[in-house]
Amino acid sequence: MTSQQRPPDFDLDQMTAAQNLRLEDLVDRASLKEVIRSFINLFGISIRVYSADGELLADAVEQQAICRYINELPNGRSACGATVNGVKRVRPADDSSSLHPCFTGANYEVVPITYDGRMVGKLILGPFLPAELREVPGSLLTTVPELDRGKVKELLPKMPRAKAETVTNIAEHMRSVLDLILFSGHKALLTSQMHLASVRESYRELQDKNARLQEAFDKLKELDRLKSNFIATVSHELRTPLTSIIGYSEMLGEGIAGPLQPEQSEFVRTIREKGEQLLGLIMSLLDLSKLESGTLTLLRSEVSIRSVLDDVVSLLRPVAHKKGVQLALAADDALPPLRGDANRLRQAFLNIGENAVKFTPADGLIRLEASLVRDDDGGDDGSFGFALLAPARTMIQVRISDTGIGIPEHEREKVFTPFYQVDSSSTREYGGTGLGLAIVKRLIEAHDGKIRIEGNKPAGTVFVVTLPVLPPAS
Ligand SMILES: Nc1ncnc2c1ncn2[C@@H]1O[C@H](COP(=O)(O)OP(=O)(O)O)[C@@H](O)[C@H]1O
Ligand SMILES: [Mg+2]
Repeated sequence: MTSQQRPPDFDLDQMTAAQNLRLEDLVDRASLKEVIRSFINLFGISIRVYSADGELLADAVEQQAICRYINELPNGRSACGATVNGVKRVRPADDSSSLHPCFTGANYEVVPITYDGRMVGKLILGPFLPAELREVPGSLLTTVPELDRGKVKELLPKMPRAKAETVTNIAEHMRSVLDLILFSGHKALLTSQMHLASVRESYRELQDKNARLQEAFDKLKELDRLKSNFIATVSHELRTPLTSIIGYSEMLGEGIAGPLQPEQSEFVRTIREKGEQLLGLIMSLLDLSKLESGTLTLLRSEVSIRSVLDDVVSLLRPVAHKKGVQLALAADDALPPLRGDANRLRQAFLNIGENAVKFTPADGLIRLEASLVRDDDGGDDGSFGFALLAPARTMIQVRISDTGIGIPEHEREKVFTPFYQVDSSSTREYGGTGLGLAIVKRLIEAHDGKIRIEGNKPAGTVFVVTLPVLPPAS
């Protein structure tokens, strides 16, 4: 990452500066407690660690019997509270410890914790008795007059004793240990901040890329829309003159403009046939562009699938007969109606049927079967596996099987792509443009249906179409 690319909040200098570091961010409280516990085990003097704001971060305290006793007496409790609060409020000067006496004769040592020349907190060591103290101090007796002197004589000496020098040494030692902890804490903090910054940077880069992708996607979508518009306009403009060509060649063929020689009428018939083929192609292009832009309107009504398939079979019969291919229709009785556009559904099934006839050699068999199935998601095994998860829908399944050349498994998705033909050389033999199935799939999907291809045994293809039936309520 160069400094130029670096986003504004990736500021290494600011990140590494100790200025805004807080003790509580640098040390792990549990390990801090561990360390001071080891100190109290060594020296028997209680230790408390405070943040710069006066928050207690860790302590290792051994309550002294004398303190417990004093706290049982009203005067003692208030005097003890005042002392402790006073000690807590002390802000030690930057680099030196200070001693704070208690009315019991004991002392507290307040030690600054510094890091990188800045005070980040403090340690309070104590209470401990000065090594030289021999007598019960007068201040104790005057502050808490109700004291039992015998008890004080017994309990006071139990408090840890230390020379001022020893306490200073302990404080120094403690400070250097803390310094080490702070340094490694700082290092860990920096590492995690750097990591965070780099994650943030990667995220930003990803967002950038996403935005660029979205932009490209929008552009492509717009181009696609323009393409669809273009095809729609061109097709429309081509259709009008072509209809005239077909109309006039029809009239010529019928001899309306005078009788034709046999060769002339042969030519005129070819003109008409090619014209109709071209018209078919243009209509397919128009349909596809409307389906892709979502502007094709379905004229929906209650449709009987049985009568749609009857029409398809009678339309296919002449061609099938000519090829010597047998046609069979088997539809369950009383199939419920579905809601759709009868003409468009007929167009879809006719396309599938035409392919079946086209790709099936003589003596072949084409079967059209319609039956009721539950929701088709699990496959055609009538699986009820999903019935518990989602309300199963009743669907009409139409299977069109042939005994023709078949479609290899890896081609079965691709044939629904516009202009895609499995084998362009063999398709030259069969004719066609590769638009049929692209239109079929979109028409079926516009009816909330699904289409898939299976292999037929021992040879051939099965097109499986499922369409939702009309819900009983509507
Ligand atoms: N019943 C079938 N048997 C074998 N191949 C088929 C069958 N139906 C479709 N195909 C393959 O799918 C391709 C695309 O079909 P389609 O979109 O209808 O285009 P076209 O019929 O114009 O070639 C066909 O060219 C053919 O390769
Ligand atoms: Mg076709």
